[in-house]
Amino acid sequence: MLKYKRAWGVDGLDREKFLVKTFGCQMNKHDSERIAGMLIQEGYEPARSAEEADIIIFNTCCVRKHAEDRLYGQVGALKSLKRRKLNLIIAVGGCLAQKDGGEIQERATHVDLVFGTYNLSSLPNLIRRVRGDSAKICEIWKEPKILPTELPSLREHKYFAWITVTIGCNNFCSYCIVPYVRGREISRPMQDIYSEVRKLAQEGVIEITLLGQNVNSYGRDLYGKSQFSTLLRELDKIQGIKRIRFTTSHPRDLSGEIIKAVAECDKVCEHFHLPVQAGSDRILKLMNRGYTKDRYLEMVQKVRETTPECSITTDIIVGFPGETEEDFQETLDLVEKARFDQAFTFIYSPRSGTQAAEIEVQVPQEVKIERFKKLVSLQSQICLEQNRKLVGKTLEIFVEGPSKKEKNILTGRTRTNKVVNFQGPRELINKMANVVIAEAHTWYLVGTLTNANA
Ligand code: SAH
Ligand code: SF4
Ligand code: F3S
Repeated sequence: MLKYKRAWGVDGLDREKFLVKTFGCQMNKHDSERIAGMLIQEGYEPARSAEEADIIIFNTCCVRKHAEDRLYGQVGALKSLKRRKLNLIIAVGGCLAQKDGGEIQERATHVDLVFGTYNLSSLPNLIRRVRGDSAKICEIWKEPKILPTELPSLREHKYFAWITVTIGCNNFCSYCIVPYVRGREISRPMQDIYSEVRKLAQEGVIEITLLGQNVNSYGRDLYGKSQFSTLLRELDKIQGIKRIRFTTSHPRDLSGEIIKAVAECDKVCEHFHLPVQAGSDRILKLMNRGYTKDRYLEMVQKVRETTPECSITTDIIVGFPGETEEDFQETLDLVEKARFDQAFTFIYSPRSGTQAAEIEVQVPQEVKIERFKKLVSLQSQICLEQNRKLVGKTLEIFVEGPSKKEKNILTGRTRTNKVVNFQGPRELINKMANVVIAEAHTWYLVGTLTNANA
């Protein structure tokens, strides 16, 4: 781990400053920590704003068109800064760069550098080349030569850390671009992960989140079968770590062993993010998800029987090509039955190159929006009902800081990943506290402090 002091240039040297803007999922957030780590190691310094930066790096997402539009909006907004500041380098990396390469520089002509997800490690070198030759560069490798897990990283938080357990994805869900821009699934050896977590624990990290597009299949490529439950049990033994989270769990690969490990390991938090995507068996098949609605509901039941306090969250797509009203009703029915603690809902966005984008019968946009609204309204009601069940219960919170909206209120998370706001002394920040839940809202809970020394 790099020292923060060095990052802020206390040695008084006039260093070039960089700013990283991140879009997309946790994997991208973690990659941005690696970008920062590499650049600091090379002698650059983080900038506090775009105005102050000499290099602005966009780490992009292309999972839906909306993510692309936002990127172009933000890159476009830098045109005048680029005109005013001649030495400014604008770089675009990540999933959109891997997908579109040089097209990005055709659309946004002021972008100096485009680099892909596989050549993250070459970024410092590419920046030097842009500086040296003042030429535009686009470098996209087709496979990784250096795994991102070997790169240094500057953690965003002192007490939380992301840990990569797998990169890439083998699932090829028919709507999804991720396997095309992140490549095949590669697991990290268990010993590597274990050593990294031990080191982080020594540095004071309390909470870790294991990352993979499908953590449940962790180890299949290395050990012949999934070893995710073993990994959880091994990591659970590491002293100093208090909470272990993981994301994402593909329902097809959620085994009884994993459910049991979550129930039995003290540090592993009682939360599954288990994206269901749709409720209709016909659509699930077209999506290539490998389970049916009933099978999914059985898994939810098994989790709840084994660990009653466990929270379950999900992702749902509405408007997959050819989705009929009946198909959509199946999604609503599943949502009613599964009683998710939270659902991330998306309107289907065709991604060229994926199978689903080739299906001719696309759902009209207004129908997608109408279904989306119905789904959000039903799920919001369920979120509130789920949260109400917690009123009166005493829960352990890791206190993250003052609440964004009200500075005199503290905010933290339960083991089940719910946000709790409460009044308490600032000394509790970055510590565990026990609160009694007093009020339930759709997106958060309000608690009363009982015992500061949880
Ligand atoms: N690996 C994770 C998800 C990664 S993408 C998993 O399998 O669960 C995060 C979410 O984006 C997906 O769960 C899906 O709900 C959504 N998504 C992916 N492709 C999409 C598309 N083309 N249109 C709309 N939503 C999409
Ligand atoms: Fe995409 Fe499916 Fe892989 Fe998730 S499991 S990243 S949705 S292809
Ligand atoms: Fe993540 Fe978006 Fe890439 S969801 S893997 S950043 S396409």
